[in-house]
Amino acid sequence: MSARHFLSLMDCTPDELVGIIRRGVELKDLRNRGVLFEPLKGRVLGMIFEKSSTRTRLSFEAGMIQLGGQAIFLSPRDTQLGRGEPIGDCAVVMSSMLDVMMIRTYAHSNITEFAASSRVPVINGLSDDLHPCQLLADMQTFLERRGSIKGRTVAWIGDGNNMCNSYIEAAIQFDFQLRVACPEGFEPNPRFVALAGDRVQIFRDPKEAVRGAHLVSTDVWTSMGQEEETARRLKLFAPYQVNRELLDLAASDVLFMHCLPAHRGEEISLDVLDDPRAVAWDQAENRLHAQKALLEFLVETGYHPA
Ligand code: CP
Ligand code: NVA
Repeated sequence: MSARHFLSLMDCTPDELVGIIRRGVELKDLRNRGVLFEPLKGRVLGMIFEKSSTRTRLSFEAGMIQLGGQAIFLSPRDTQLGRGEPIGDCAVVMSSMLDVMMIRTYAHSNITEFAASSRVPVINGLSDDLHPCQLLADMQTFLERRGSIKGRTVAWIGDGNNMCNSYIEAAIQFDFQLRVACPEGFEPNPRFVALAGDRVQIFRDPKEAVRGAHLVSTDVWTSMGQEEETARRLKLFAPYQVNRELLDLAASDVLFMHCLPAHRGEEISLDVLDDPRAVAWDQAENRLHAQKALLEFLVETGYHPA
């Protein structure tokens, strides 16, 4: 299969990733100036969502429409995928009718299996392992506010989850130091940590991890699919709340990011999203611009029908 996929940040070179986020900045400017830009006229994106979403669905759907194309929302509840049709069979059929696919699912292997049989580019819209599209938006947001992240220090506070794994891949690809502060037993996947070598350090104390950091980021303590662990997690993660006092220990120009949705009073204090150091609303908006750049990159330079 010759299609170019985006299942992880490692599917692009560092130069390609920087190119995509810079293009995201340009596409944002075009939109802000009201310029019509429709390179994907007649192209169709299929979106399979096995988990809930606000930002991912909206940004991909609006993004395709703005680029001149269309997006189709596919729920496993209403397709044969939910009734056990093999993933590979679905991929062959869907990719014969569509130009690009986006999948949000549980097991990461569902996405790799789909991609293996897809004739068109497949984008990971979040799996239990990774959330690479969010990292494009986060990296675009940092670039816009502070310039290159190369050589900077980033602190990830809380669960070593899919977002944290993608931050590890970002540390490799964008060349920054990542400090992860998490409770014992909630470390990021050792496969990703091993890949990153000395770019990643694991801490127990969030205060130590944020000292001097240029970016602090966190996420919910209970990800989608882990709901039955909520009570236990609330107790174990309590010392890992990001609040203004914690951010005061970071660099004076620190940015605070949260991919959203947020649980105020849990992983963040009630007021931290109102702090001038917080850029969560920019991050959310940049999902639109960064993914438009990704779609343009994949559909323009990826699969070309013979
Ligand atoms: N950050 C993010 O992916 O949000 P949604 O779950 O709303 O798509
Ligand atoms: N870690 C969270 C991210 C949501 C965007 C989850 O997987 O539910």
